[in-house]
Amino acid sequence: MQILRRSPCCWGIKSLSDGSASQSGTVIPHGRDGRATLRGTDMGYKVAIIGATGNVGREMLNVLAEREFPVDEIFALASRRSVGIEVTFGEKTLKCQNLETFDFSKVDFALMSAGGAVSKEWSPKIGATGCIVIDNSSAWRYDVDVPLIVPEVNAEVLVEYMARNNRKNIIANPNCSTAQMVVALKPLHDAARIKRVVVSTYQSVSGAGKEAMDELWAQTKGKYVPGQEVEPKKFPKQIAFNCIPQIDVFMEDGYTKEEWKMLAETKKILDPKIKVTATCVRVPVFVGHSESVNVEFERQMTVAEARSILREAPGIMVVDKRETGGYVTPVEAAGEFATYVSRIREDATVENGLAMWIVSDNLLKGAALNTVQIAETLVNRKLLAKAA
Ligand SMILES: NC(=O)c1ccc[n+]([C@@H]2O[C@H](COP(=O)([O-])OP(=O)(O)OC[C@H]3O[C@@H](n4cnc5c(N)ncnc54)[C@H](OP(=O)(O)O)[C@@H]3O)[C@@H](O)[C@H]2O)c1
Repeated sequence: MQILRRSPCCWGIKSLSDGSASQSGTVIPHGRDGRATLRGTDMGYKVAIIGATGNVGREMLNVLAEREFPVDEIFALASRRSVGIEVTFGEKTLKCQNLETFDFSKVDFALMSAGGAVSKEWSPKIGATGCIVIDNSSAWRYDVDVPLIVPEVNAEVLVEYMARNNRKNIIANPNCSTAQMVVALKPLHDAARIKRVVVSTYQSVSGAGKEAMDELWAQTKGKYVPGQEVEPKKFPKQIAFNCIPQIDVFMEDGYTKEEWKMLAETKKILDPKIKVTATCVRVPVFVGHSESVNVEFERQMTVAEARSILREAPGIMVVDKRETGGYVTPVEAAGEFATYVSRIREDATVENGLAMWIVSDNLLKGAALNTVQIAETLVNRKLLAKAA
């Protein structure tokens, strides 16, 4: 199933607690200012999209075009199965090429979303050519020599990384559930130090790739059409009209790998002292992850203060009307660049506790948008110039 949606960019729009918005201040500038020349011409950069036929790859092409990333040349790459398949980049149509035979010495950026196994094999080879790999898989996220970046939270890590002579030229993008959560937690942590986070996720099927979306679609239809029933294949149980409390494999302690990722990544990106416990659940939603998040702070954080901080935070929109429908659901977040925070309320069962609801498009902030923002950060902060 192909995702047919696009909506106006709302990145950098500041939020008001009633959900209305005013245009002000973009923290990570989007534009051509400060662009450094790498191997490309003065016109821009040469960019390869690896996994261009996939959910995330297609979104990366859309986001690069929509944000007018300074592209000089762009290449769509996938497996040899997809050679010749057409994908779109703005007004242009690109034909997919085979990753295995592509010459990476001619590109500046490889934006990669082709799974962990492909990344483990190819990222070091591509990085060794001098090309910067920004990877969406979990292959490199926990490597101490690879930065794990959400630009609104820890962009400064890139400055130190790009100054290193012996770097791998690989930058990791976090798990989709982690990305949207840390964007919301960062400004609150800066204000009142977070001690502990309890999160339950409601994750859409697009987070498991295009075949997973097809399974939900076919299984849903199959429930109504006799003879067209679809057995679970991508998911461990029926996903249509159901919820599955398992994402990724089980670990020895009873948590799943997805739950462990949220813990490990939050510590690496935000603060190793924060305690996190997660329950990750797959739900029959096509696009958009939701999270119920309880936070314990070192000092009291009132609802009013949290709203006011989040209203000013980059990438966040507060929509919290405390009336029927006065919150954001994944259907409304799909296609949007913002991470939405709703249902902010005091959690009186713990000292200094707040509860909230965080929703974002997992293919955008959870993957493609964050990847492009990392590339924008390198360009706008002139960090690539040091690579020469
Ligand atoms: N979806 C999300 O919300 C999300 C969020 C964060 C991170 N990620 C990560 O991003 C990656 C891709 O996710 P997705 O949802 O886009 O998956 P997807 O829709 O299943 O797409 C997978 C892409 O990888 C390509 N690919 C697979 N094997 C390949 C190979 N051997 N050589 C070259 N290309 C190959 C596929 O090309 P073919 O069409 O030729 O097979 C396709 O373009 C995964 O690592 C995932 O964990 C996803």
